[in-house]
Amino acid sequence: MNQYIIKGGKPLVGEVVIGGAKNAALGILAGAIMADEPVLIENLPNVNDVNVLIDAIAGIGAIVERIDAHTVRINGKTIESVYVDYEYIKKIRGSYYLLGALLGKYNDAQVALPGGCNIGSRPIDQHKKGFEALGAVVKIEQGGIISAHADELIGSHIYLDVVSVGATINIMLAASMAKGKTIIENAAKEPHIVDVANFLNSMGANIKGAGTDVIRIKGVEKLHKSEYSIIPDQIEAGTFMIAAAATKGDVLIKNVIPKHLDAISAKLVEIGCEVEEFDDSVRVVAKERLGNTQVKTLPYPGFPTDMQPQIATLLALSKGTSVVTESIFENRFKYVAELARMGADIKVEGNMAVINGVESFMGAAVSAPDLRAGAALVVAGLVAEGFTILDQIEYIERGYEDFEGKFIALGASMEKIDVNDEKALKKFKLRVG
Ligand code: EPZ
Repeated sequence: MNQYIIKGGKPLVGEVVIGGAKNAALGILAGAIMADEPVLIENLPNVNDVNVLIDAIAGIGAIVERIDAHTVRINGKTIESVYVDYEYIKKIRGSYYLLGALLGKYNDAQVALPGGCNIGSRPIDQHKKGFEALGAVVKIEQGGIISAHADELIGSHIYLDVVSVGATINIMLAASMAKGKTIIENAAKEPHIVDVANFLNSMGANIKGAGTDVIRIKGVEKLHKSEYSIIPDQIEAGTFMIAAAATKGDVLIKNVIPKHLDAISAKLVEIGCEVEEFDDSVRVVAKERLGNTQVKTLPYPGFPTDMQPQIATLLALSKGTSVVTESIFENRFKYVAELARMGADIKVEGNMAVINGVESFMGAAVSAPDLRAGAALVVAGLVAEGFTILDQIEYIERGYEDFEGKFIALGASMEKIDVNDEKALKKFKLRVG
């Protein structure tokens, strides 16, 4: 088990290169098994959730060649089982995309119920509803396995009751190889929905309208080989934007699609930060303490729930009172208790956090309650006076590649050490004073 030790107080300065989008990668990897030909996927983030899914895909018999840390070739022609109960698969959310992919390809799938970050109840009724509309019988079996079976998958008209990223991708996967036409209404519009659709189309699928709230899919009999590069990670980019702003730094964030960052850029500009957009990069400069605002998380193009802990951390250091409303997940304020230990003044009432900005944080021993909350606590540590020790960083490693390396390159005093390595801790403290 590792932890981060951080000595805060230095502005981040320099350039950082953003990797491929984790949440797109999960849908794309699952989709890749639907062809019986090689599918090359590039710009893959080398993070734990992605690697677990790749192992599970190899576990059902697909040919998996890891060409390098960011490239994999998958060929689904040798798949011999539709039963996915790989030990670690329960821990990741993206495992449920194998349900849609296997159901679409073989009319049959059995996958262990998905886990993922504990940020709310996270039901999967909309996935179930979508598969059932396509003609599948979906059951929860003993041992927490979801099974989906159809004699034949037939296109259908599906209206999602809630805007769900996961259900939209899962239904797109299954419907790509169903007979006839499927229409998904009230679909999610996140950039990774568009990326998964573009990827499936590159394999011969016929999906139109991804990125709007009506997606039309004409099922095809077969999907074929493809080479595809995943879009940059909007949330990794946003996290570095916030870190630059919080440390009063000057950071050029490269390999991004600035349009995907509009909601984040707009909030930063509103509170007094400079955000300069280029073709495939953004520069964030903060020269002084920023101002207050209101933020409400919403499905894309609204402010992303996956950026809520990070912006709340920034606002906790800004002037005045801010209000952050979480409208997607009911349990996404668990980091507030940890931030309070560092001196933040935040009151949570229901799905709302009322934040009274403080001048600075004090370093403390804190624990990452989930992936994005963990990232927010790193940002807090980078600002705090003195040393912050952050535990449970395995959550962070699920979704951020070389997080510490990228901050160190921007001038941060930070190290990843074993939790029991007292010597490394002392050495770090001596080195950075
Ligand atoms: C995806 O989760 C992401 N995970 C999450 O990223 C992200 O926070 C979320 O989308 C929202 O953008 C992956 O892509 C693996 P949803 P998902 O279905 O698909 C409700 C991160 O930090 N709902 O869009 O699980 C649900 O409870 C993670 O990278 C139903 O009611 O999210 C929530 O309130 C965390 N029934 C809302 O919809 C359903 O069947 C949106 O959830 C499905 C969802």
